[in-house]
Formats: sequence, structure tokens, C-alpha cells
Amino acid sequence: MTRAPQRAVCPGSFDPVTLGHLDIVARAAALFDEVIVAIGTNPSKSKLFSPDERIEMFTEAAAGLANVRIEGFAGLLTDFCSLQDAGALIKGVRGASDYEYELPMALMNRHLSGMETVFLPARPEFTHVSSSLVKEVASLGGDVSAFLTEPVAERLAARLAER
Ligand code: PNS
Repeated sequence: MTRAPQRAVCPGSFDPVTLGHLDIVARAAALFDEVIVAIGTNPSKSKLFSPDERIEMFTEAAAGLANVRIEGFAGLLTDFCSLQDAGALIKGVRGASDYEYELPMALMNRHLSGMETVFLPARPEFTHVSSSLVKEVASLGGDVSAFLTEPVAERLAARLAER
């Protein structure tokens, strides 16, 4: 008997994608038939990179992951998941504060659609890595190359130099 493909959505802003994000997506890709990285394009949040740039950077960074697709989305995440016929959400969790931030969203998304959220614990080497911290450190001249792919590190340096 054939079964329907198990598709999961991994949502976020990814401004920009870090090696921590890539690790979560790679591990999710080993658990599901297909993983869709859903990059929020809601214009209300100010971002360093445009939606197209964030999509481009993630697409390049995840090029080696055959069952991963990168898409932009706006509006309700659960509507996007229904359109994509996805059955689960994936979130990386670095610690208790991430869990507290994510839990209401996971419960709301389940209320809206019945979808479950799967929490994957971040690897210890990435528990202190976030896009916002990486941007802050880089903007003050710190070296963040250990947390980004080379092309993303170059684009970040170039963007900060423009400012
Ligand atoms: O990386 P971020 O900024 O925490 O990602 C947030 C994102 C894009 C995943 C979140 O803002 C989101 O899900 N936005 C879609 C709007 C929505 O569905 N809101 C209700 C979720 S409970």
C-alpha cells in the first residue's frame, strides 16, 4: 500500500539564515519526506534583508538538501500549510525561553488547523546563535563567520557596510 508523502513546514524570518537554522532543517529533512522552509514576508517587521534576499540566501545554503524547498509566505501560517498540504510544523528550540515563546504559537496553530508542531532541540554548539545576535555582533565588528555559510557571511558584511 502506498502512503501519502509526509510534508513538514519549518517557518521563520531567517534574517539571515544561520548554521543553526540549517542544522534544524537538515535534521527535519531526515524525518520527513519533504520539508518546506516558509520564510515570513510580513512587511510589518523591519528586516535587514528583503524577502527575496532571504529566500535566495536560504535556497543557496540548502542546495545540498534534496527534499527541502524554500518558499515565502504572508498571512496565516496555517493557511500556507493547508495550501502546501503539509501535516506538521517544525521549530528549533534553543532553551526554555524559546519554548515559552513557541508554545502559544504551537497551541494557536493547533487550534486553527489541528496541525502539530514538532520541536527539535538545537545542537549545543548553536544554542547561543540567533539571527539577531549575529547581526548585532557583526554590526559591531565581531567575527560571526562560525555561524553562517560563507556566502551569507559575505552578504551580511556587504549589507552592514552599506549602512
Ligand atoms: O523567526 P520568527 O520571526 O520567530 O518567525 C516568525 C513567524 C514568521 C514564523 C511567525 O511570525 C508566523 O508564524 N507568522 C505568520 C502569521 C501567523 O500565522 N500568526 C499566528 C501564529 S500563532
